[in-house]
Amino acid sequence: MRGNFKSTSTLVARTKGLMGGALALALGATAAFAAGEAAHIDRQSWSFAGVNGRFDRAQLQRGFQVYKEVCATCHGLKRINFRNLAEPGGPEFSAEGVKGLAESYRVEDGPNDQGKMFQRAGRPSDPIPSPYKNEQEARAVQNGAYPPDLSLITKARSAGENASVFATIGSMLRDIPSGYQEGGADYVYALLTGYANPPADMKLAQGMNYNQAFPGHQIAMVPPLQPGQIKYEDGSQGTVEQYAKDVTAFLAWAGDPKLEERKRMGVLVILYLLITAVLVYFAKRRLWAKVH
Ligand code: HEC
Repeated sequence: MRGNFKSTSTLVARTKGLMGGALALALGATAAFAAGEAAHIDRQSWSFAGVNGRFDRAQLQRGFQVYKEVCATCHGLKRINFRNLAEPGGPEFSAEGVKGLAESYRVEDGPNDQGKMFQRAGRPSDPIPSPYKNEQEARAVQNGAYPPDLSLITKARSAGENASVFATIGSMLRDIPSGYQEGGADYVYALLTGYANPPADMKLAQGMNYNQAFPGHQIAMVPPLQPGQIKYEDGSQGTVEQYAKDVTAFLAWAGDPKLEERKRMGVLVILYLLITAVLVYFAKRRLWAKVH
């Protein structure tokens, strides 16, 4: 009896320890958000969200157009090669279209037989050339600020909030079962649509712009999107929200080009495990039938 009682109390102590650890983790996370002054980020509905999520091809194509015509002036996309734009699961441009696109760029190659680097037309196997040679050149041109490469930006950012510990635990309980993974996309969309006039009592540093979504609210990037700036061929609206939505979806694909394959495989694996579980259950009943 006593032994039993003892082991229960150790169990309780252990559980308490674990809970304390989890609480400390959650607290640490909120503290980190607080330091960055994270803003509230609205959730958007994305076609690629959820267990069965798929990219909208037309949206990815428009998003690439926005990237190419606007963002590419300052931001690289070095992890995407031209040929990826024609692969299944992405924007799925035609192979000829992508070849033509690649050829419209000049890329550095070499060294040649004389040991010199030389310029040639791009090929589908080339990575999309970045606007700057390196971070130093980018900073020199951008007044000291660094426009990051956008290949993985929707993975590198999230929609963190200054929520209380309990709210954080609450959102974890909701987001883990629903498989919420679009925090990065929600943040990039909020950033692109988040420019506004600063509050009266706020003084912006020189060359900075007020942005509701950016941690600290002062960003060096000038508002990149203006209404009517890009002409869409499929008749989609030329609003800032539409451009932002499209380019964000495109960047979400760039950061996770195998998303569709991954989700399809996930569903199959779960199905397989369910069927196996049923079979194992009946096998167990049969094997133990005589003992019962
Ligand atoms: C004129 C140059 C310029 C253009 C055009 C531009 N950006 Fe930026 N961008 C910047 C600079 C500079 C920064 C760094 C800002 C900072 O650190 O304050 C930045 C930062 C960012 C960030 C990172 C914000 C963060 O959380 O750190 C994202 C995302 C971004 N830009 C997306 C875009 C997208 C998408 C486009 C096209 C619609 C675009 N930018 C167009 C200059 C530009």
